[in-house]
Amino acid sequence: MTPGAGCGVRIAGVGSAVPARVLTNADLEKMMDTSDEWIVQRTGIHERRIVDQPTQGTFTLSCDALSRALEDAGMKANELDLVIVATVTGEMTCPSVAARVSAEVGATPAAAFDLVAACSGFVYSINVADSLVRSGRFDAIGVVGCDAMSTVIDYGDRSLSILFGDAAGAVVLTRDEDQALGCLYQTMFADGSNWESLYMPRREYEIPQSDSENAIRIGCLRMRGREIYKFAVVKMRQMIQNALDETGLCPSQISQFICHQSNVRIIEAARDKLGLPPDKVYINIDKYGNSSAGSVGLCFDQLWRAGKIKRGDTVLFVAIGGGLTWATSVWKL
Ligand code: ACO
Repeated sequence: MTPGAGCGVRIAGVGSAVPARVLTNADLEKMMDTSDEWIVQRTGIHERRIVDQPTQGTFTLSCDALSRALEDAGMKANELDLVIVATVTGEMTCPSVAARVSAEVGATPAAAFDLVAACSGFVYSINVADSLVRSGRFDAIGVVGCDAMSTVIDYGDRSLSILFGDAAGAVVLTRDEDQALGCLYQTMFADGSNWESLYMPRREYEIPQSDSENAIRIGCLRMRGREIYKFAVVKMRQMIQNALDETGLCPSQISQFICHQSNVRIIEAARDKLGLPPDKVYINIDKYGNSSAGSVGLCFDQLWRAGKIKRGDTVLFVAIGGGLTWATSVWKL
């Protein structure tokens, strides 16, 4: 096949990883002034997974998820020529998480870089990876979305800490002769003017004036939940509608709408307004919380392994996150 000339892109393998430790709402009740009832009613979350050893984190979860995706694909790591890790919780900014993950799984000297788009990171990354394969430059790309949010949470901030968990999802994408396979439609957007609604300051002077009266912990996530909620609840519905309009697909032609798990109310509002069948809009936030860049890949892997999506299906990925960022991706599997 001529590199890049009219190729398709196959999702050759899928994998995910979550830490073993379960943090329930009852556990949070002991740590802060909150209740299971408040959390479930406002977010749909009952429990989440968190890392509980210093040796665990974004790096280890990413390695585990990518190894599983390679195993699912029946491929060796040295067949990859690029590794992308979407994360906002990398242990270090240099080296990238991707470079260490690539070395750990055995993909060296594959190219490697991290992609920062918060909760939209996995969807951004599969969009970028699909385009890179189609450009002819890469044949096999490992994409990981991973965030160990518990490592950047201030558990003194009850309006935020109850939302998040840790997870990684991964796919291995390969060039394919079947041009029908791969990304049929993609969007990626950002509006940095709204960055203050979700940010992680590294230095005191990065804390915006609007937060100067609040107790902000350096290195921890800060969120204006109500603002994000209002933005996301409208945007998620619009993004799905736009994807359907622009691809000409109707909901019955989509096997699963795989949404970032930010808050069950955001997902259900989009689902109900668009009249989508509940069994086509996967929800696992009850058990895993919001794992930022990990969530969409985790959902995809669970659906894949449960046989709820299969080769030949069309799926729609959609996510909204810090930046603010938002992205959609429609794939023929
Ligand atoms: N337990 C009990 N009470 C609480 C808690 C808690 N954990 N947290 C806040 N409250 C109280 C507040 O103090 C407030 O009390 P007051 O009215 O006496 O002042 C009241 O509950 C309402 O607080 P709000 O923050 O306005 O609550 P809201 O209904 O907006 O729910 C939530 C908060 C769940 C965070 C919601 O805004 C939300 O889900 N936002 C979207 C968040 C999101 O999706 N973030 C991620 C997107 S980007 C990404 O994924 C990285």
